[in-house]
Amino acid sequence: EPRVSPLSSFSSGSGSKKLPQAIIIGVKKGGTRALLEFLRVHPDIRAVGAEPHFFDRNYDNGLDWYRGGAFVGLSAPKKPPPTGHIGHDREEESRGLPCPPLELAWLYQLKPQGYSAQLPVWFSNRWLMSPTSSVLSSVRSSELIRDLMPKTLEGQITMEKTPSYFVTREAPARIYALSRDTKLIVVVRDPVTRAISDYTQTLSKKPDIPTFESLTFKNRTTGLIDTSWSAIQIGIYAKHLDNWLQYFPMEQILFVSGERLITDPAGELGRVQDFLGLKRIITDKHFYFNQTKGFPCLKKAEGSSKPHCLGKTKGRTHPNIDPEVVQRLRDFYRPFNMKFYQMTGHNFGWD
Ligand code: A3P
Repeated sequence: EPRVSPLSSFSSGSGSKKLPQAIIIGVKKGGTRALLEFLRVHPDIRAVGAEPHFFDRNYDNGLDWYRGGAFVGLSAPKKPPPTGHIGHDREEESRGLPCPPLELAWLYQLKPQGYSAQLPVWFSNRWLMSPTSSVLSSVRSSELIRDLMPKTLEGQITMEKTPSYFVTREAPARIYALSRDTKLIVVVRDPVTRAISDYTQTLSKKPDIPTFESLTFKNRTTGLIDTSWSAIQIGIYAKHLDNWLQYFPMEQILFVSGERLITDPAGELGRVQDFLGLKRIITDKHFYFNQTKGFPCLKKAEGSSKPHCLGKTKGRTHPNIDPEVVQRLRDFYRPFNMKFYQMTGHNFGWD
């Protein structure tokens, strides 16, 4: 049994903070942000906006960090504040909600319930023993302040997404140790387009990196593929899935087709709602195809009456890749894809 913190049932106002019962564990560039944004429309789902990276980068910070809100009512964290970073998905920025730097997440953890100015707060990399009200009001009014887990009501499901979990060796055991009932969702996409999408994202941040073609090969003349390049490694789904099956039965993992999430979002969302044991509330009535964006968008975003498409970093134009290199990669992935279809009992149609 996982060690449950005495504060785990902490509750105030409407609802309580719970650890996620369902996690979108991958894959990077599969369409994970789209899935989470669409799921948020469901009244029985509350989702973390940021990527917490708890089961990979921030695991040592402990469960109270993951849940958030745990230090409310205490004087200050006993241990020195953790140094981890909450993942930064640029989609959040484009909605005007930057993910909080860790220190603000901590401050917020102290704030919401009976926060008193006498309480020391961790702010901007140091402890403020009696923070001035101007510091606090500037922070309080800032949209930067958010917490990790949202509060949920009875029957609501807490969710988060961190796509790197799927390829993290330690993640299955860690999630299992916390709760063996956690439902896992993986959005998968043709590994070749996934790799190009991944490369496109890196290129947008570091324009000076070598070409996709040159990074693909260890040796271009022999045609030996560099499987240690993460853009290629991540797409070997069968290998990563093996790792999860050491802990979780297949029935507890749902595979969402990244391709169908674009061509038939309501269909895929129907499967996800069934998997989560929720009423099918998100249907085709929630979506429209935005010609300019070239992707399905929400007629109404969560908590708003306005249409909402994902931000500019989702649905980027990919560079043209040498067709021979693409073909070489298709050949490389084919046996792994076959294995993956066999394991999941589903042909994703990439070959
Ligand atoms: P590209 O930008 O390469 O097209 P993730 O959120 O996991 O990083 O995945 C990003 C991918 O989600 C995008 O990759 C895009 O193809 C895909 N996607 C799926 N549905 C989308 C939607 N409705 N709007 C924008 N992108 C979507």
